[in-house]
Amino acid sequence: MIYVKLNNGVEIPIVGCGTNTFGKINNNYNEALRGDTAEVDMAINNGYRHFDTAQLYRNEEILGEGIKKSGIAREDFFITTKLNTIAGYYGKDWVQTEIEKSLDKLKTDYVDLFLIHRPWDNPEEMTEAWSLLEEFYNDGIFKAIGVSNFAAEDLRVIFDSCTVKPAVSQIESHAGLWNDDLISYNTDNDIRTTAWSPLKGLTEYSGLVVDEIGDKHGKTFAQVILRYQIERGVIVIPKSHNKERQAQSLDIFDFELSCDDRERIMRL
Ligand SMILES: NC(=O)c1ccc[n+]([C@@H]2O[C@H](COP(=O)([O-])OP(=O)(O)OC[C@H]3O[C@@H](n4cnc5c(N)ncnc54)[C@H](OP(=O)(O)O)[C@@H]3O)[C@@H](O)[C@H]2O)c1
Repeated sequence: MIYVKLNNGVEIPIVGCGTNTFGKINNNYNEALRGDTAEVDMAINNGYRHFDTAQLYRNEEILGEGIKKSGIAREDFFITTKLNTIAGYYGKDWVQTEIEKSLDKLKTDYVDLFLIHRPWDNPEEMTEAWSLLEEFYNDGIFKAIGVSNFAAEDLRVIFDSCTVKPAVSQIESHAGLWNDDLISYNTDNDIRTTAWSPLKGLTEYSGLVVDEIGDKHGKTFAQVILRYQIERGVIVIPKSHNKERQAQSLDIFDFELSCDDRERIMRL
């Protein structure tokens, strides 16, 4: 595993495990929880120690339970969760309560990385929410704080008032939508980018291109795409319900893409 250093010195494994359908009936995002921790157990056994969840996914307790059951020390894990700002913002007390619920469900007294899930059209409220995240950060309950789905103009709202800069910006980035300009903007501002849905967006054509590159290296299309992202310093959080595919997404540290490979992938 490669660890990257965030702007506050905290280290994060460059490959994490997405979880948005984990623990759910039929692996369906909108379904109810089944009540078991099968995919989290599988991921831990496969060697994942970095997990990406969110209040919105309704499965923080599945992750918390899986980690606790593993018997592996909490400090060996890196947990990201997110404040659910999708359905609205309800003020400081609400943020405080939702954070306490996350800690409770995750069965932990700290979160490695806490993100605002999505910006909304109210700079004063966003500033207020960020200042609360800063308080939890300063109290050591969040080891790092950041944002998700923030464009450059949303980040500037935070920059205008923050005392702690976002450490991570989690955005959609995959074939067909690499989001290169925003990744550069994040980098220029010393903010690390995480790519969500890293394996989506392939067309028949782009699938053939990455398969061809993969064949050359003895790797799968998914490994090629994840390698492309980590070679440019982007953190990835692939999600799979399948043991072999989970393992493959971690097995990307023993090959290197050529300049030609990278140029072809960049154009997809
Ligand atoms: N911040 C946000 O707003 C936001 C939004 C979306 C997602 N996310 C996060 O990003 C995570 C990943 O995104 P995602 O779940 O949408 O999709 P993804 O990781 O891009 O994966 C897409 C599909 O690819 C398959 N797959 C996974 N690993 C593979 C491999 N090694 N080889 C071949 N196929 C593979 C999986 O199906 P199988 O299960 O059949 O293998 C999966 O359903 C989420 O789980 C969530 O944690 C965040």
